[in-house]
Order: sequence, then structure tokens, then C-alpha cells
Amino acid sequence: MKNTNQPDQDLKILCSGLHPGIIQAMLDYDYLCGADQPRIVGIIAGNRKTERFYWGESEISLPVYETVEQIAHDVRHSIRAAVNFQSGRRVLASTEELLAALPKLAYYSVFAEQVPETHALHLGKLLEDKHILATGPASVGLLLPGNLKLGAIGGISPDQLEAADIIQPGDVAVVSTSGGMVNELISSATNLGFGVSMAISLGGERYSFTTPAEAMQFAEKDKNTKTIIFFGELGGDDEYEIADLIKAGALTKNIVAYIAGEVAALFSEPTQFGHAKAMANTPSETAAAKKLALASQGVHVLESLSELPDAMKQTKSQTREKTAPSRKIGSRHKRLIVSHISGELKGETHVLGTELTDLVTESSFAQLVLGILLGKRVTSKKLVEFTDLTLRLLVDHGPYVSGATNTIVAARAGKDYVSSLVSGLLTIGPRFGGAVNGAAQCWLEGVNEDRSPREFTDGYAMAKKLIPGIGHKHYSTDTPDPRLPLLEKFSHSSNGDRYLVFARSVEKITVRKKRNLILNVDGTIAAILLDLLESELGYSREQLDALVDAEFFNAIFVISRTVGFSGHYFDQKRHDEGLLRLSDNEILYLPDSEI
Ligand code: ACO
Ligand code: LMR
Repeated sequence: MKNTNQPDQDLKILCSGLHPGIIQAMLDYDYLCGADQPRIVGIIAGNRKTERFYWGESEISLPVYETVEQIAHDVRHSIRAAVNFQSGRRVLASTEELLAALPKLAYYSVFAEQVPETHALHLGKLLEDKHILATGPASVGLLLPGNLKLGAIGGISPDQLEAADIIQPGDVAVVSTSGGMVNELISSATNLGFGVSMAISLGGERYSFTTPAEAMQFAEKDKNTKTIIFFGELGGDDEYEIADLIKAGALTKNIVAYIAGEVAALFSEPTQFGHAKAMANTPSETAAAKKLALASQGVHVLESLSELPDAMKQTKSQTREKTAPSRKIGSRHKRLIVSHISGELKGETHVLGTELTDLVTESSFAQLVLGILLGKRVTSKKLVEFTDLTLRLLVDHGPYVSGATNTIVAARAGKDYVSSLVSGLLTIGPRFGGAVNGAAQCWLEGVNEDRSPREFTDGYAMAKKLIPGIGHKHYSTDTPDPRLPLLEKFSHSSNGDRYLVFARSVEKITVRKKRNLILNVDGTIAAILLDLLESELGYSREQLDALVDAEFFNAIFVISRTVGFSGHYFDQKRHDEGLLRLSDNEILYLPDSEI
């Protein structure tokens, strides 16, 4: 029988914490069930922005967020299922964050063990109040065949998932305190030819978010379910709650139960078994007493799991033919590197999605630079022309500047081209050439955090920090930088030049202190580039921040000045005067200095 079910594409899933193996299994399950596309919309984890997985045999990248609040509002409101892989100590805070940010959450599973009992009790109440079907702590997950696999439940590898016959819902619910036993009972039921309607791994901690009785009530409401297989253990009083529900007519479906732990009766003292709750401190908590309570209400209590086949024959559940997945998962190969910039297609190099030779034919150098730096083709004429001017204006500024000097010194020391070039490039930094990025960060913060220019400059002065993009060793209000008017021709952006206006207002304050504290070429480029990216490409604050984080704004200076440094290297090679050594009248020697 082919799987006719398709997972509900509107049921989006979030993973809090990164567990690559289980997340891949959840993707594979959706794929085998015939989902059109991945339903996992994000992972909450640190120090990365994407994590690579497979969708079938193709590779995909899932977004990784530091916090759930970073996820776009509409995406957050589409998330109805979440699985938590955080450590036991992090479960409380991470769950509260998820509950606050995900108003549509309906299914939740916590993987971690050793969640403090007070945390588990508190979260259980929160989850119950929100009517969320939650499993855990210490749960292998929740399975609604054909629609949702949260966690490791049902298997991990594609072969396990295909063999488990859990692609199509059946009429047997599995409820278990034990993770291992939930998978064992799924496999037992499907090997007997039954189909699973749901499988709930409650978790083995003392206080599970969902009790066995609550899980059974969930199964009772499910129209597909005819039989509930329950795996319980000694300790606690869950079975009496179930017996009371049956007595009250609230549980009417066939129930087949196995209660583990009768062996405890052989010990002279109450003995703690594997799970925190698995200890009979009173006679009513023993496996024997619990079995009697269930049997008294008509539950088919197994003395041994080998009795399951006969017990299932006495239920209303029907066997069915195995359901084959709607598609297979073949061999997969994880590539070492992902590139969105370029790659090989049909043996030809493609850049930004276009065959290289075509791209260079239809693009200027500035357009190529922008596109390759931003990772997408840029069609804004104004932005491309500004980039072209900037690349030309910054190409060189004489041998006086520290970077050019270092290239020259290295060249005269006999170093090769690349080494001499790199010695110049390594000089680019917060004071020389590398202030474009810092200035962009300043103008972004100044404008968006609504600080007045005076508050902004005072803040830097109080912190004894220099404002990137302000000051020049050679230019001042008396000797203005001739490059700036050319750059400023690219103002008048549709955002009102809000970054350039802010930068100029800062300059008005700083030049009162010293005439050379002008808005320099780095600061000007940063401001106009921000205005153009925002106006011409519609970049959001988050996108501009991401460019600052990646130091994008320094790239134009580096690319351009590489030409100048290279020129100084070749120039020195042409008239090679040999090694440069400063004479003693170039050095002031202060042996007794107190610095
Ligand atoms: N922001 C605030 N105050 C400044 C700044 C600044 N950017 N630059 C200098 N000052 C202040 C200093 O704090 C000092 O104040 P003080 O007298 O109260 O101590 C005074 O001005 C003189 O400081 P100096 O370092 O002597 O000034 P100098 O002219 O040597 O500095 C420089 C020039 C190195 C460019 C400096 O302005 C600076 O580091 N600016 C920030 C980095 C930057 O934008 N660099 C790019 C330059 S252009 C390019 O490389 C393409
Ligand atoms: C510039 O282009 O302004 C830099 O090289 C710094 C300088 O002092 O010339």
C-alpha cells in the first residue's frame, strides 16, 4: 500500500539545541512520508548561522538562531511543534523562552535527563495550561505516524524508518515510560501487522510533563485509535489513575499493559530501578499491586511480553499490509564546502548563478565586486557606480601611508610580491584603511539607537575611544580631502541620507576640538554605502548588522588599495635601491624614558 498521507506542511517544527543525528532522522521521516519540503524551520544554537543536512539525497542548510526571538514573527507563529535537545540545567529557561515566543505550539518533547524536579513540575503546569501535548523530560519523543516525528522515536537511520512501518497511521497507540520500550513496542505491533496511530515516550523522570493517564486520554480522543499498549513500571500511582478513568467510563478503548519491576519483590528492601520514578516505596507502588488494579478494570495485563500477539488478537485493532514510504533515500555524500558564490555546472564555472564568461561580459568590475561580496547580483546603477568610484579613488594615496611604506620596506628587503603585498595589507586596521567597517557600525548604532550626535560623541569621549571614520593625518577643515566631494555626489538617497547626515553632524562636533577631526574617506564611504544598501537594495538593520559583523565595509578599501600596494612593490623592484635601513637621526633613542 502506498502512503496516501502527507505531513501537514503548515505544521512547522523548531529544534532548541543541536542534535544533528536526530534532526536528520526527523527530516528523513518527513521525506519518507512525502512532505513537499522540510518543515524544520530553524535550530536554536550558538556560533553558527546555518547547519547542513540532507533532504532526501540533496543537501540543504537549515537556519540557526542564537535565540528564538531572532526568528521572524510570521515564522514563529507557524511553529506548532518543538523538540528540546538542551542540557538538563538549560531546559527550564529554554522552554520558557519557547513558550513565550511560540503562541501556536501544540506538541513538545524534551530529550534531556536530569532536569531538576522542581523545573519539571513547573514546566508540566505551564505546558498543561497551554494544552500542549508534551513528552519528557528524558523522552525519546512523540510520533504521530504520517504527520509528526519529534525526537529519536521510531528510529534514526533511513533503513530503520523504512522498516518500522510507521509512515501511515494505524489503530494502535503506544504509551510508555521507557524510551527503549516505546521503540520495542512500536516494532512488536508493526511486526504483528498492526499500524501505530501514535507513540508517546513519556520519559522516565519522577515528574513527566504528561502522565500515562493523560496520554491515554489523548489516545481516547483519537478516532483512529482502537487499542492502547501501555508499558509502565513499579513506583508511583499512575496505574490507579488509569483504573479510575476506566471505571468512570473516560477510557473505553482496549488497553493491553505490561508493568515492569515485579522482580523488586525478591529484594528485602525497596530497590531503585533505572528510572527515577521506578522504586516501590509502598505496597501499592509495586508492579504486582498495579497490575491487579488495572486488571480489575478489564485491562489485559501481560505477565510476559511474549503474550502480546495473543492479547492483540483479543482487541478491536485490525492488522493491515505494510505501507511503503512514498519515496526512498539512496546514498548520500556530504560535501566539504558550501558556496553560494560559484561552482561548477555542466563542467563550466558559474558565478552568482551565471556562466562566468557570460557574467563578465554583461558586468562591470564594480558590479562583479559587489555581487561577489554580497553573494547576489546587484542591478542598482547608483550603487554600482558608487562602488566603481570608490574602487578607483582608494587605489593609492602615496608611499607615505603606513601600508604602502611597509610594502616598500618589504620589497627592498628582497621579499617576494605576495609577501610584500601582505605586509602592506596587514597594516590596514582601526587607524588606517580599516575604519570603514567601524564607521559603518557607528553610524548604524547612532541612527538606529536614536542617540543625538552630541550624546554619541560624548559617549566615545567618556569611553576614551576614537570614533572610526573621524580624523585624518593629512586632511583637515583647512585642507579638505578632494575625494570626498566626488563621493558625496552619490548622496540624495531615498532614505534621506540618514547615515551621511548623522556622520556629518558628528563631524560638526569633532572639528570644533581639532580641525583634522573631519569625516574622513573611510567614514564617508561607510555612511553613503549604508544609505545606498538601505535605499537601493532594501537592506534591513539585521542585514546591515550582518555585513558589519563580517567586516564587509572594509573589503572595498582592501580590494582597491591592493592595487596601490602592488604598484609600490613593482615600482621598488624596477629601481631597486637595496635594503632600506633607517639612519640614526631617524630614531629618537630615550633609554631613560618612563613610558
Ligand atoms: N574620534 C574622537 N577623537 C579623536 C579622533 C577620533 N576619531 N581622532 C583623534 N581624536 C582626538 C584624540 O583623542 C586626541 O584628543 P586629546 O588631545 O584630548 O587626547 C586628539 O584628537 C588628537 O589625537 P591624535 O591621535 O593625535 O590625532 P591624529 O591626528 O594623530 O589622529 C587618526 C588621526 C589616526 C586618523 C585618528 O583620527 C584616528 O585614529 N581616527 C579613527 C580611525 C580612522 O578613522 N582612521 C581612518 C583614517 S582615513 C584612512 O585610513 C583611509
Ligand atoms: C587615505 O587614503 O586617506 C589613507 O591612505 C590614509 C592616508 O593617510 O592617506
